[in-house]
Amino acid sequence: MIPSPKLRRSLSASYDLPAGATVSGPPDLVAAVRTALPGLDLLPGDHGAVDLRLDPALGPEAYRLTVGSRGVEIVAGGRAGAFHAAQSLRQLLPDAAFRYGAASSWTVPGVRIEDEPRFGWRGLHLDVARHFFPKREVMRLVDLMAIHKLNRLHLHLADDQGWRVESRAYPLLHEVSSHRPRSAVHPHGRPEAFDEIPHGGYYTLADLAEIAAYARARAVTVVPEIDVPGHASAILAAYPSLGATGEPHDVLDRWGISPAILSPLPPTVEFLTTVFDELLGALGETPYVHIGGDEVVLDQWAASPEIDAYRESLGLATVNELQAWFLRRLADALAERGSRAVVWDEAFVSGGLRQDTVVMPWRGQGVGRRAAAAGHDVVATAVFPLYFDYAEAASPDEPLAIGETITVADVAAFDPAPAGWTPEERERVIGVQAQLWTERVADPRTLDYRMWPRACALADIAWGGRDDFAGRLEAHLGRLDALGVEYRPPAGPHPWQRRRPHLPGVVRLDEVMPRLEAMTLDPESTRPSM
Ligand code: ACM
Repeated sequence: MIPSPKLRRSLSASYDLPAGATVSGPPDLVAAVRTALPGLDLLPGDHGAVDLRLDPALGPEAYRLTVGSRGVEIVAGGRAGAFHAAQSLRQLLPDAAFRYGAASSWTVPGVRIEDEPRFGWRGLHLDVARHFFPKREVMRLVDLMAIHKLNRLHLHLADDQGWRVESRAYPLLHEVSSHRPRSAVHPHGRPEAFDEIPHGGYYTLADLAEIAAYARARAVTVVPEIDVPGHASAILAAYPSLGATGEPHDVLDRWGISPAILSPLPPTVEFLTTVFDELLGALGETPYVHIGGDEVVLDQWAASPEIDAYRESLGLATVNELQAWFLRRLADALAERGSRAVVWDEAFVSGGLRQDTVVMPWRGQGVGRRAAAAGHDVVATAVFPLYFDYAEAASPDEPLAIGETITVADVAAFDPAPAGWTPEERERVIGVQAQLWTERVADPRTLDYRMWPRACALADIAWGGRDDFAGRLEAHLGRLDALGVEYRPPAGPHPWQRRRPHLPGVVRLDEVMPRLEAMTLDPESTRPSM
């Protein structure tokens, strides 16, 4: 099974589970199990072949699953636990149980499973700004996450290359900022080349409401990201007056870091809080909102007399302190709305965060440890081995990637909270998340290739990380085949998965990671040149 349960014991008796069998228990648990097992056509009833019980002594995601001669018994700590139990039950069935319309009778092997996750945050990040992925792809990703007991979908909704949310208050965001005339297609650091193909799209507020509800029903929480104050070209293409210079901007058609930056003055804060209200109104209960804070080029703040005067009026000594102040104001606004802010690690290094702000240390585990020691909750997100836009092999057979190498085995071997840290520091690591940046992931088929099966390894370490991942993965690939996932085969790409060839050696992670880690020691060093 993937992820592997905490405790699993085989029992001698098996149980024949017919299609249309009854499921009984508390209505919300019944609903969770029916949602998790659509192919079984389970019907609510009084005496179930599948019997559900709530045990509040268990954690909300914990469960016990017993399959014996009398049927299937699930004891769960909450709705999520019942949902996860049903996913485990599905993995006890043949691969065909993962096909559409698979309703039939199944023989379930006798088993006793006692299970709960190691980490509460088991995340996938999807960059829908660099390339837009329509709602149907997001729903499918939620389905695949649910099968792997992943429970946080971080949607990177805004960046230099696109804004992806309808706004009634600021309609130019979806009308102007959501598309660009062309996209860069050259390898990193090589002469520029463009596809000359328009690209864009956005989610309506109704779409976002639908995505959030669909995810919630599958024990997945959507974490929206509006990345500010840098990465702001798309916003400024629509509303240049919100920028530090007031100058016109275009939605960017190339990758890398832009100097474009929002102004920290009150109209920008008002703009962003209005956008948060629209976003939260659509998504419903949203415990976390990511506000970015990465790769900010503060030159335009330093060069602006108006912004400089504002900084002085606040009694702040540097533009770095002003950035910290700006992000804190946004985090305060989110707190008033019932959400915790999440930031990339530069914002921690700049200082001044609210204590309840969650830190994502993408530039390495060293800065994550320091954030944990400072009392922040931390979600492990280090480029190595958690940036799935990097190639799995240094080979031109791979589709073009920013760099290399991150293998399935690298992910499976990763410990989000290493044993060498103090118990207090380890306690602060609330989870682990893989990032899929999409500069070079332009379509859903490439998304599948980059995401799977590395996300299987992620799910495994996030849940507990137990023995023989490689052996379990071999068996699990049959489930992915049944689901129609176009994963990267262990031996390398199918001929049709090659695409534009990768150029090895340009960005090597064994060289990049020490450089990134070193930068985290300098509060003013926020611009990786990759
Ligand atoms: C990041 O990779 N800039 C978070």
